[in-house]
Amino acid sequence: MRGIILAGGSGTRLRPLTQVLSKQLLPVFDKPLIYYPLSVLMLSGIRDILVISGPGHLDQYRALLGDGDRLGIRLAYAEQDRPRGIADALLIGRDFVGDEQVALVLGDNVFHGHDLAPLLREQVAKLSGATLFGYAVADPQRYGVAVLDGDGRLVDIEEKPRRPRSNLAVTGLYLYDNEALDHAARLAPSARGELEISDVNRRFVAEGRAQLVNLGRGTMWLDAGTHESLMEAANYVRVVQQRQGTRIACIEEVAYRMGALDRSGLHAAIESVGVTSDYGRYLRQVLDEH
Ligand code: TTP
Repeated sequence: MRGIILAGGSGTRLRPLTQVLSKQLLPVFDKPLIYYPLSVLMLSGIRDILVISGPGHLDQYRALLGDGDRLGIRLAYAEQDRPRGIADALLIGRDFVGDEQVALVLGDNVFHGHDLAPLLREQVAKLSGATLFGYAVADPQRYGVAVLDGDGRLVDIEEKPRRPRSNLAVTGLYLYDNEALDHAARLAPSARGELEISDVNRRFVAEGRAQLVNLGRGTMWLDAGTHESLMEAANYVRVVQQRQGTRIACIEEVAYRMGALDRSGLHAAIESVGVTSDYGRYLRQVLDEH
């Protein structure tokens, strides 16, 4: 399976922060936002990942993450010339994905939870069609909302409904088999001029090939698209990390624990980050403990 992180967009709700900077490079407490979705793909077992961002920003992502070698993974980069919609990622990533399955994650989505990694790996292993992840939220009107039948099967997705038929938001992580590329290729822009990912998802729903997995209360899902939610995400990360003495989305640690990085690789990562930061000292602790 191949991974795509969509890290472009306009970031209008975060201006003036995003006047010059790319949203997914903004800090969420101690690390750039993009580390969080990147770690989710890595925890799913994916090692080939395409980072998509807008003009003028790709070089910064390249400078931050490189070709993935220092994480034991392979990273590629592609430009989205303007925000044409989330489903555009499947057009831009077409050659990169080839005939494989694909996991698409939005660059501003933060997922965290104890059972998340095994859950994701299980869903990747049994993927057929589309697997979407639902999350109960207090304000479903802001999201694509899942409509379920009496047996809990996904029967529709409503985009930002005024009267939501459930409280389950469809989160920004989508697992697809290769057919998603063809669905995306046949899309027409929506009324707001974008290629909507909900339209791709609805095609899988119409074929009876879409599943919704409810992430449940044991998982935290945040999208850091507004000043409030960016601050909320930072506070969440800070509280969990300080209390537990662990780190969320520490990509070098994830790489090490999944066996993509060996001890000397982790050592090199520590050298490059340095141990003047808490982050670097944490990595040294991981190395010392194992
Ligand atoms: P949004 O948060 O819906 O849009 P945005 O980031 O442009 O922000 P705003 O609404 O404040 O103007 O996008 C969700 C994620 O998808 C986010 O990480 C940006 C990314 N994205 C793209 O990279 N390209 C696109 O064409 C779109 C629509 C979104």
